[in-house]
Amino acid sequence: MTLTSDPARAGAVDPDDLASNTTGSTPLSDLVGARLSRRSVLAGGMLAAAGFLTTSLVSPPAAQAAPGGGRGGGGARGLLGFPAVGPSTDDVVHVPAGYTARVLIPWGTPITGSYPAFVPGTPGEPGGDAGGNTAAQQAEQVGMHHDGMTYFPLGNGRQVSERGLLVLNHEYTDEFYLHTGGHTAGYRPTTAEGVRKSQAAHGVSVVEIERRRSGEWVPVRSRRNRRITATTDMAFSGPAAGHPLVRTAADPGGRTPLGTINNCGNGETPWGTYLTCEENFNGYFRVDGTLAPADAALVERYGVGGDRNGWAAHDSRFVVTPDDPNEPNRFGWVVEIDPFDPRSTPVKRTALGRLKHEDATVHVTKGGRVVVYMGDDQVFEYLYKFVSRDNWRSMEARGRSPLDEGTLYVARFEADGRGTWIPLVHGQGPLTAANGFADQGAVLVNTRQAATLVGATPMDRPEWTAVDPRTGTAYLTLTNNTERTAPDAANPRAANPWGHIIRWDEQDGDHTATRFTWDVFLLAGPGGGVDGSTVAADDAFGSPDGLWLDPDGRAWIQTDGTQPGAANNQMLAADPTRTGADGAPEVRRFLTGPRQSEITGIAMTPDQRTLFVNVQHPGEDGRSVWPAEDGLATPRSATVVITKDDGGVIGT
Ligand code: FEO
Ligand code: CA
Ligand code: CA
Repeated sequence: MTLTSDPARAGAVDPDDLASNTTGSTPLSDLVGARLSRRSVLAGGMLAAAGFLTTSLVSPPAAQAAPGGGRGGGGARGLLGFPAVGPSTDDVVHVPAGYTARVLIPWGTPITGSYPAFVPGTPGEPGGDAGGNTAAQQAEQVGMHHDGMTYFPLGNGRQVSERGLLVLNHEYTDEFYLHTGGHTAGYRPTTAEGVRKSQAAHGVSVVEIERRRSGEWVPVRSRRNRRITATTDMAFSGPAAGHPLVRTAADPGGRTPLGTINNCGNGETPWGTYLTCEENFNGYFRVDGTLAPADAALVERYGVGGDRNGWAAHDSRFVVTPDDPNEPNRFGWVVEIDPFDPRSTPVKRTALGRLKHEDATVHVTKGGRVVVYMGDDQVFEYLYKFVSRDNWRSMEARGRSPLDEGTLYVARFEADGRGTWIPLVHGQGPLTAANGFADQGAVLVNTRQAATLVGATPMDRPEWTAVDPRTGTAYLTLTNNTERTAPDAANPRAANPWGHIIRWDEQDGDHTATRFTWDVFLLAGPGGGVDGSTVAADDAFGSPDGLWLDPDGRAWIQTDGTQPGAANNQMLAADPTRTGADGAPEVRRFLTGPRQSEITGIAMTPDQRTLFVNVQHPGEDGRSVWPAEDGLATPRSATVVITKDDGGVIGT
């Protein structure tokens, strides 16, 4: 998310830029020194310390195997076969020559119930929470601000790439566009109806889509279409279900939470369900009164407060009080949705921990266990993984969810290129009652505090994770961190304005391992070495966020935040199999977004010939009317469908 233009919000900066982790658990300066010396030893003393920070973090010396290096491969031509597009500042989506991009299911597209047509508010008339569609209508339309997304194929044979369920998150709302149609900084709904509409624009959409003979993809009327919003009935499962810390006056049993919000990235399971990640839930609450010390500490560690969408005035669920303080603890989870059953109850899987979940990348191990990699997107927060107790098929056969039983770990990056996954298990290490963790449920509700206590490495805003399906190498985007003053090995830039990507290999290729080796994949920025960036000037980008490796191993990188040259946000592809003399991978710009948007969410049909990408929050400063083809002045988040004009595989 980017919230840069609204002064009512968090001092006009992205809320993720504000640290909640002030504990400073890892002595960063020690890490830098340790990495320098140990790495030099590993490399046979060949490294000159002076050159270390500019080259070796990206290109490990030959004496040490680089994660992802030397395997697979795109052949002599490499994986990137498209002509690069240039950076852009206009209000258009640009894709390479030979490709076509079309708009699909913008915010407000009718998908269920009475299929109400989209009606924008009236620009220049900020008076109306009544402007545009009603709350009830919004609940039957695609939500606002598209984000993470999965394509679930339907049918058999060739049909699977011509018909499917597109399931997508709606991260947040720009209340001015939602209600008034125009840009009015700081606008919030002022009526209960307005709040209900805002809540209905959040959540998840399930939309059946099909490819027509003309090649155009369209949404279809389907009994599977569904909206999940901030008020949909849900269930808790796993160790924190029913825990005292998730009980509220409205749900004294602590098992039936209501709704999901700030749904950012996503994941999909091998058993055909969708995972949606609750990220910046904290900003939706107002805290009234003086909380008990433990409750106050929890609120502070997750940054709860701000009431940025104005919900508290009309929905007491979003008011935190000393007598009923636990509603925020019912958010910050990974939620599992069965997209094929529109009556199914979404389940908050508490075993995966409570944090500002960016995304959830599911990888199946050789032994059939599932591993879920997860970033906590805030400055100085951590990287996590969950490992199921058993083979997922045998667990499912026994009626057990592989996401309910297993071990949650947090990452510690050592300066010598090694790393450790530290278990967050009650009774192990410092996670005891004496330190405030009564049981495993308490560890999970307090995941951030537990991770700090065991010595996890504070990172530069961990965003999306991805796993190369051919090699097993895992990747993590670190979007930026202008608050960092002391670099460490895994976060090598002080005041990191452009972000970077790291990658790691689990020990012996076993994703259940507790040890790994890692290196820096690339340092984003203006290119040409400026600010230490390792990309070419032609491929300049900043703030890497969305990330996915396609079946061929192309790494698709999506940006959200400041770009070199004040360009619009973009999507690039990197070829991990081809590196230059400096060890940095080949990168090529594939798409540029309209003004004041971010590019996020990515999915492909199984034949890799249709690519779905989301454009989120165009015109957040009022300077966009994208997508222009709807003829409306109100900009709208939307999915973009990209095909190659010769019908070929995307990216080749
Ligand atoms: Fe939802 Fe961290 O972007
Ligand atoms: Ca994001
Ligand atoms: Ca982001």
